[in-house]
Amino acid sequence: MIIIIDFGSQYNQLIARRVRENHVYCQIETPAAALEAIRRHSPQGVILSGGPSSIYEAGSPKIDPSLFDLGIPVLGICYGMQFMTAALGGRVERARRREYGFAELSIKSARGLFHGIDRTTTCWMSHGDSIKKLPRGFKATASTANTAFAAACDDRRRLYGVQFHPEVDHTPLGRAMLKNFLFGICGCKRSWTMKSFAKEAVAEIRRTVGDKKVILGLSGGVDSSVAAVLIHQSIGKRLTCIFVDNGLLRKNEAAQLKQTLRQQLQINIRFVNAAALFLKALRGVTDPERKRKIIGRVFMQVFEAEARKIKGAEFLAQGTLYPDVIESISAFGGPSSVIKSHHNVGGLPKRMRLKLVEPLRYLFKDEVRSLGEQIGLPEDLVWRQPFPGPGLAIRVIGEITARRLQILRNVDEVLLEEIGTEGLTQKLWQSFAVLLPIKSVGVMGDARTYENIAAIRAVTSRDAMTADWARLPHEVLARISNRIINEVDGVNRVVYDISSKPPSTIEWE
Ligand code: XMP
Repeated sequence: MIIIIDFGSQYNQLIARRVRENHVYCQIETPAAALEAIRRHSPQGVILSGGPSSIYEAGSPKIDPSLFDLGIPVLGICYGMQFMTAALGGRVERARRREYGFAELSIKSARGLFHGIDRTTTCWMSHGDSIKKLPRGFKATASTANTAFAAACDDRRRLYGVQFHPEVDHTPLGRAMLKNFLFGICGCKRSWTMKSFAKEAVAEIRRTVGDKKVILGLSGGVDSSVAAVLIHQSIGKRLTCIFVDNGLLRKNEAAQLKQTLRQQLQINIRFVNAAALFLKALRGVTDPERKRKIIGRVFMQVFEAEARKIKGAEFLAQGTLYPDVIESISAFGGPSSVIKSHHNVGGLPKRMRLKLVEPLRYLFKDEVRSLGEQIGLPEDLVWRQPFPGPGLAIRVIGEITARRLQILRNVDEVLLEEIGTEGLTQKLWQSFAVLLPIKSVGVMGDARTYENIAAIRAVTSRDAMTADWARLPHEVLARISNRIINEVDGVNRVVYDISSKPPSTIEWE
């Protein structure tokens, strides 16, 4: 295992991804918790991340330098290297100009980190401070036009530093350098697979839960479904899932979930039909944030009432993922929240005195998907596109009525069918329809119509932080539009959204 120490870099999660891609387990720790975590886990290596601070700034993040005496290989990236340099007696200074962007890296030593790497290669720089003198025992291993110490190492103590960012794609051979660190320097083994994870997770759930009962809120998305299957495999019928049908789901969604999780996988699920309650609470509401708040509140009420019926439950399971965990532990505020979530049952465990079980809390989304495949979740569930907690409520723009929800459901069904037939579901981050609050004139046969407009939104994205509108083939768009206007009662016009995020968001509300 590798421990990554979080000095506040926006690339922290990327470093973790790169390590795990190599089937090596890693965990991100704050500087304050780092040494304790290292003692507990005895990692094969430590990576010090970059960060936005200058090491001489008051309050800049620090770790106990005794780390460097533990005999564990350390790789310092950017701020991490500067910290290591200063801590071990080298000198770091404010550079006159921030070095930012591509730089040509000249490698002096084709050993260690640079084993098997071309003598000159491109790297990505982003730092304000600059190293002026290396600590005793260190030698420079690479330079750029701007700095003689673009990389350095102390082979004897196995301490390595790079000023550039090997974790980003802009450093084309960065992956190979990280591999050298993991396998050549730290001697890691490729043992982190979803098969091994599932086995350990099942044992861990059994250990934690003992012979008690667990409740889990099922949303229909990948995360809670994977968590449900994993916990079910651990404790069987002592898991009860609660699925709240808020009436804001897509067509057949609840039925499909029933079919797969209950019929096929035998998971214990209580379905609560609360559509009328949600619709009533949303009557007359048009403001998006108010919609979200109302949905969150009603959800909590319904969920809690149902959960109280399950006698003797001591645990609440959640499908929390690692990016959320990292964000909440990061001392320096990581990138802003990726997914807004209304399914925040955070207050519930306390009120009901439930303990939390979060079996996915160390996984990234793609790992959750491959875990899902590993433990037998059907492909269509594993590869679901994200669907927002407030559901169609934030896609029926303006007031939500049963009729408008029905129209949108019918539009969405056609769209998803066509996207599926084209084999585009997994290629797109999301594809969905939005019902606009205006009407337009059309002509049907000889008659004038005055009906609704549906907008189609399809985006590509890596993480929902940024997104681009998908260049869907014109023929596909034409077929989608034709089918919607012909088949869906109440719609006479279809438009395609060609906005990217930022400045637009993915959802319209
Ligand atoms: P935006 O619209 O902010 O969406 O670009 C980014 C991602 O978050 C999803 N989203 C939500 N998910 N509750 C959720 O659970 C919400 O209130 C919510 N709003 C947006 C959106 O679908 C996209 O994947």
